[in-house]
Amino acid sequence: MGLGEAPAKAILLGEHAVVYGYPAVAVPLPEMRARTQARFDNRSGDVVVEAGGRGLRVSVAANPNHPLAVASRLALEEVGAAVASVRVRLDSSIPVAAGLGSGAAVSAAVIRAITALFGRELPDAVLSDLVYQVEKLHHGNPSGIDNTVVAHGRPVLFRRGEPPEFPRLGAALTLLVADSGQGSLTREAVSGVRRARDAEPEPVDGRLARIGLLVEEAVPALVAGNGTRLGELMTENQRLLRELGVSSPELDALVGAAGEAGALGAKLTGAGRGGHAIALVTEATAPAVSEALSAAGARRVTVCRVPAHRP
Ligand code: PMV
Repeated sequence: MGLGEAPAKAILLGEHAVVYGYPAVAVPLPEMRARTQARFDNRSGDVVVEAGGRGLRVSVAANPNHPLAVASRLALEEVGAAVASVRVRLDSSIPVAAGLGSGAAVSAAVIRAITALFGRELPDAVLSDLVYQVEKLHHGNPSGIDNTVVAHGRPVLFRRGEPPEFPRLGAALTLLVADSGQGSLTREAVSGVRRARDAEPEPVDGRLARIGLLVEEAVPALVAGNGTRLGELMTENQRLLRELGVSSPELDALVGAAGEAGALGAKLTGAGRGGHAIALVTEATAPAVSEALSAAGARRVTVCRVPAHRP
């Protein structure tokens, strides 16, 4: 049997601007994961991925363009197997189309399980590249941040076209991840920003550049374990994302409630227009902020802890 897994991710700062070459920082969310088990099957000559809970069944032969079929084929190519009879069971606790990198995480988990079945453990960077190829098919023009953080499973400072950096967190982060209840379609949110930029380049470019500067300030705050500063920068990032048109009334309500209840900072995460908000909290403020998020309409609030770097 080959086992695979990969975590969800949250972009702390920099989404959308990262598409245009500015830096962004993202962290894995260990509490939400995609898990896979691959086994050889009886001479079906096909790879079938099944997620019981989601009623999902993808056959490489019957659904060749499905992202999970593409991920499976890439995994087989990587191990040099032209045909294989494989069954993959997928279990994921990551909400779909919600800004948390579900697509990248399930692809990574499927590729890991299939390559493990053939006795291969892929280096994280190779896995990241394979997941990026899958992401390109369904997102159009992904920056590459999602595949990078889910494949490496650690905090990432990402800039398009450059090798990722891995900042060492000076203190653990406690994030409340709040579901707005609305779906978030990455492709549409990204093309919305592009249309706004085509119509009025100057103000949009100005906001994207300011988001890039916030990320540059956030990295030393992360490394120093300065949650107060990091929170301020996140809230400022939200203001700019809102001006870019990728927030929503529901997300604004969650962010506002988190701030009033004592969060260090809060913002949407991922493509926006729906999906999830994140609030940076301390262990002491977590319960009050969590309650405020629920009262402001969050369908679910998950406490996620990103550990500090251990030397
Ligand atoms: O919503 P998600 O998890 O697919 O994240 C999208 C992040 C964007 O910056 C909006 C797009 C990208 O490709 O980086």
